[in-house]
Amino acid sequence: MATVRLDQKSRALTRAIPTSFDRALAKFFGSGPTDIALAQHQHAAYRQAMIDAGIEVTILPSDNNHPDCTFVEDQAVVIDGHVLLPVPGHPSRVAEQPPIAEFITRQLSGTKICRMQGDARMDGGDILRLGNLFFVGRSSRTNDAGIEELRDLLAHLGHELRVIDIPEHALHLTSISSTPTDSVIFAPQGFLPEDAFGELPDGCEVKWMPAEEVYGCNTIGLPNGQVLIAEGYPTVLKTLVEMGLDPVVLDMSQIREADGSLTCCSLFF
Ligand code: GLY
Repeated sequence: MATVRLDQKSRALTRAIPTSFDRALAKFFGSGPTDIALAQHQHAAYRQAMIDAGIEVTILPSDNNHPDCTFVEDQAVVIDGHVLLPVPGHPSRVAEQPPIAEFITRQLSGTKICRMQGDARMDGGDILRLGNLFFVGRSSRTNDAGIEELRDLLAHLGHELRVIDIPEHALHLTSISSTPTDSVIFAPQGFLPEDAFGELPDGCEVKWMPAEEVYGCNTIGLPNGQVLIAEGYPTVLKTLVEMGLDPVVLDMSQIREADGSLTCCSLFF
């Protein structure tokens, strides 16, 4: 989940991979998973890596009627304990939300839950947080009305939002970027203009990775200095080591086949 700072990462929601995972939407990184048992194994290793890093991980049962249900990041936006329930940008994904909304509502009882209205559409995967600065992708899943609802919430919380146009050959903003720490953005060369993120706060920077390591640019930084990364992206790995961080490399091959990245599979709350 890309909407929490490092110090806010203590509890994560995940959802098991359904037996229908081979029918997950796949258009960008992959052409559809072919080995569901391997995908489930990779998901278990992902959860275990977070548990080993001290994160309290909950797993919701899968829903075979919704092949993409594992990608919980898209279904709720949690910012500083406030919750925005978006209307997901792909019709097949809308009905994944109720169990996730119910869980988050129970966990964060007393919190005001906002639901997106009307024509607004957003996938949580289009939101990126760098410290207290937010970015949102205007994408095939997230429209201007959705962005305005997010802007209202962030204005209420005193945070700035910057909009980035996502190229047609990418799914979400977090498909092509992440913040392994609260001061660094990883992004692939050639996908976004060099000034896409605008002027960053002092001490913050974008580290541009080779275009062929685009999938590797999605990472999950954890409070203990570990960073979960996908296997097969040597520049991403080397850069994290040079930053003094501790990369934990995970095989994500079958999850990638469903266009899912590391952050897609969890929701920090
Ligand atoms: N397969 C993930 C998505 O398209 O939303």
